[in-house]
Amino acid sequence: MDFRTELTAYQEKIEAYLEQCFTGEPPYGELYTAMRYSLLAGGKRIRPVLTMAFCCAAGGEEEQALPFAAAIEMVHTYSLIHDDLPCMDNDDLRRGKPTNHRVFGESMAVLAGDALQAAAFEQVLSAPLPEERRLTAALTLAREAGQDGMCAGQVLDIQGEERTLTPEEITGMNALKTGCLLEAACLMGVAAAGGNTEQMQAAREYAAAVGLAFQIRDDILDVTATSAEMGKTVGKDAAQGKSTLVSLWGVEESEHVIREQTQLAKRALEGTGLETAFLETLADYLAGRSN
Ligand code: IPE
Ligand code: IPE
Ligand code: MG
Ligand code: MG
Ligand code: MG
Repeated sequence: MDFRTELTAYQEKIEAYLEQCFTGEPPYGELYTAMRYSLLAGGKRIRPVLTMAFCCAAGGEEEQALPFAAAIEMVHTYSLIHDDLPCMDNDDLRRGKPTNHRVFGESMAVLAGDALQAAAFEQVLSAPLPEERRLTAALTLAREAGQDGMCAGQVLDIQGEERTLTPEEITGMNALKTGCLLEAACLMGVAAAGGNTEQMQAAREYAAAVGLAFQIRDDILDVTATSAEMGKTVGKDAAQGKSTLVSLWGVEESEHVIREQTQLAKRALEGTGLETAFLETLADYLAGRSN
């Protein structure tokens, strides 16, 4: 199968799985509607693709990784809903649609995010996989999403609006706010397959490099792309006084860092016993993405 066909197949699998989540009509109003509104708004599904791809690379089947893949997309979607709130980045547009709080109000947006995070752990812990794999995945997700992971990165991002950060500070912030959830995605894929410590380490290194490149690309696109292409408002980082490598070094030097990190990501997979062809091409694809 060629890369594009495989990528689309993964994306269709996760889309179908997410589509059947939160379909009931609970007596407490719009909560499910608000959760589904953002979850099914057409994200690129990069994190669940990584989870399924790492599971397959470590000798498993993509189906067995689906609950973990759904979980990471739920945590990611919650992080976006909260990232867009007026008290955070104050955004009106996400995934090509008005942001969650714009449609459902701030209270419901906060609660939809909260509930998506809890639902993610329910997915992981009730997956039809051996207990040890479920626990490894749950612990990984908790650590990567929490106070020393994504949330810590968001804190640094918000605090960073007050002053110009150094390149080291920006890289540290990116590793946390974006790298951690990508790392969780990759590690949970290896966990779903029952992969070994060496494969976990390779997944961690691959994710760290892809994560840095991914956020730098996001920051470049914030300067060079249109809102229509991105499905979110562009030009936000400069307007809000956010320090990025792009604001510090410009687009060309930032492109150089993306190329460097992508090479590092691919190198991390060497000699691990992982089936790496798709993951290598995925690193290149993400480095060059245009939305
Ligand atoms: C956006 O993530 C937030 C960042 C970490 C840069 P994505 O670019 O993966 O957004 P979706 O999921 O496709 O909407
Ligand atoms: C997002 O960073 C990181 C998380 C949501 C954890 P950004 O604030 O740059 O993401 P966008 O540009 O709003 O998607
Ligand atoms: Mg932000
Ligand atoms: Mg934002
Ligand atoms: Mg951004």
